[in-house]
Formats: sequence, C-alpha cells, structure tokens
Amino acid sequence: MASHCLLFLAILATVLTAVNGCTPSDRAALLAFKAALNEPHLGLFNSWTGSNCCLNWYGVSCDATTGRVTDLNLRGESEDPIFEKAGRSGYMTGKISSAICDIDSLTGLVVADWKAIAGEIPPCITSLSSLRIFDLIGNQISGKIPTNIGALNHLTVLNLADNLISGEIPSSITQLTSLKHLDLSNNRLSGEIPKTFGNLGMLSRALLGRNQLTGAIPVSISKIYRLADLDLSMNRLTGSVPYELGRMPVLSTLNLDSNLFGGLIPSSLLSNSGMGILNLSRNGFEGIIPDVFGSKSYFMVLDLSNNNLKGRVPASLSSAKYIGHLDLSHNHLCGSIPLGSPFDHLEASSFSNNDCLCGNPLKTC
Ligand SMILES: *[C@@H]1O[C@H](CO)[C@@H](O)[C@H](O)[C@H]1NC(C)=O
Repeated sequence: MASHCLLFLAILATVLTAVNGCTPSDRAALLAFKAALNEPHLGLFNSWTGSNCCLNWYGVSCDATTGRVTDLNLRGESEDPIFEKAGRSGYMTGKISSAICDIDSLTGLVVADWKAIAGEIPPCITSLSSLRIFDLIGNQISGKIPTNIGALNHLTVLNLADNLISGEIPSSITQLTSLKHLDLSNNRLSGEIPKTFGNLGMLSRALLGRNQLTGAIPVSISKIYRLADLDLSMNRLTGSVPYELGRMPVLSTLNLDSNLFGGLIPSSLLSNSGMGILNLSRNGFEGIIPDVFGSKSYFMVLDLSNNNLKGRVPASLSSAKYIGHLDLSHNHLCGSIPLGSPFDHLEASSFSNNDCLCGNPLKTC
C-alpha cells in the first residue's frame, strides 16, 4: 500500500513539473539575468513572462523531466523570423548578471553578437560544472578570463572572440581536456600561451589571433593530433617556429602572420601535403625557402611575403599540384622564377619587391 502511495506521489510530482515546468529558482535567476540587460529593438524578452520559463521563453530550453533550465541561447546574428521581420541584427547593452550562476544545470550558455553587452564575465561562471558550450562572441566584454576556467571540465566550446578581454590566458585553461573549439580572437589578451597548451588533446580549432600575446609557440601544441586550424596571427609572438608543427597529422590551416617570429622556415611546414593555408607573412623569417614541395603539395594560400627570405624561388614549387594564392613579395629573393603550371595564373604582385627576381610574370631575365 505504502509503495503504491509513493509511486502515486512520484507520478504526481512529475506531472506537476511538466505542467509548471521551470524550477522557481531558475526562473528567478533568468529574471535577474534579464534585468541586467537592455534589448531595445526586438522585444525578445517580452516572451519572458508567466511562471513557466520552460514554455515559450525566447532562447530558454529545459530538461522536461527535471524542469531545470539547460540552455540559454541568445544570438544577435540569427535567421530567426523575429530578426528578419525587424530587418536588423541584434543589439543589447547591459551586462551578464552573476545570477546566471544560480542555474547550475546549464549545459549551454550562448549570449553572442549583441555588439554592446559590456561588463565582465562573472567569476562564479566557473561553478556551472555541467557547462559544455560557453559562447560570448561579439560583445564588449572586458576584464579577465576567470582564473579557474579550468574547473569547467565538460566544456567543448569556449568562444570569447571579438570582445575587450584583457589579462593573461589562465594556465588552468589547459585542464579543459574535452575542449574542441577555442576562440579567443580579437581581444586584448597579453602574456604567454601556457606551456602545457598541448594538454588540450581534443582541440581541433585554436584561434588566438589579434591579441597582444608574447613569448614563443609552446612545442606541446604539436601533441594535439586533432588540431586542424591554428591561428596565432597578429600578436607579438617571438622565437622560431617548432619543426614539429609541420608534422601534425591534420593541421591544414596555420596562420602565424604579423608576429615577430624569426629564424628559418621549418621545411616540415612546406613539405606537409595536408597543409592548405599557410600564412607566415609579416614576420622576420630569414634564410632560404626550403626546396621541399612535391606533387602532393596543395596550397589554397601560401603567403611568405614581408620577411627577410633570400635565395631563389624553390624549383620544386613548380611540381606542386596546386597553388591558389602565392605571395613571395617583399623579401630578398633573386634569380629566375621557375616555369610550370602552378605559376601560370600568378601575377607580378606575387613576386614584387624582391632583390633580383626575373622571368614570367616579371620582366625576362
Ligand atoms: C596573410 O597575412 C597578412 C598579414 O597579416 C595579411 O595581410 C594577408 O592578407 C594574409 N594573406 C592571405 C592570403 O590571406
């Protein structure tokens, strides 16, 4: 009898949750989150009324059985009809309230491309231990990345790009061993890339460009065997480029342009047949261009411009399967440009401002 009674109560509780949805504390947290923001044009938050925050609240998703909020997904660049009807993209001011940290069931927190949300990342965010996706791209968020960001050990996506975030990349970030996509581009981050960056074993994209990072590329990066896209461009990075980078199995986009790198270009970067986009422009690379291209070389972009390279245009480049965009300009190269199909479509600008290059598409030797 007693067990029947318990079963009945359990069913009743489930039904009530389904009807009412939304745990009251989650609802209160969402309302406090909303109160710290101002979205003047679209009225998205007008839908945030009534007691059931799991029912038709714009951007809010819940777990149907627990009635807990699991996702908050607010994107200012969206195909949603609301945006189309208003004929505009998103705009919001205000800040991210620390009340969001009360929703400890959150697995996704996306507040992206609102252009004018300012303030800092609430440090308590690191207590959201179920968080998998954390995306604040395209706002005006300042302050630092929370020191113990590494506590979010389920994170697969961390995107803080296009904000005003300063300070160093916390070394605890290297504890995020589930992380697949890291984008910190276009902020004001300074200091060095953590030495143990290579612990991020699941990473496939690491985008750290357009910051003020200094120091060398940690060799440990080359241990990340899933890494396909590495962007360190437009920083103040120094030293030589580790040979091991060219030995990474799936690395196909490597942007190191506009830094202070020097030394020789590792031959491994040019002989790697998986490398499709390589930009080493605007650095201090010196010595000759390694003559290691082959019939499997397939570059959409090969930009070595604005360095101190000397010697000849490597003859093996003419055996490449494809070179889409080649830029060797603004170096100290000399000698005749090789003949061959990869060169047929190139213009003089690919070779301009060298010491003594000649031959098609420049003047004859
Ligand atoms: C390579 O990087 C330079 C400097 O940052 C940039 O100006 C150039 O457009 C890039 N090249 C390509 C082909 O994207």
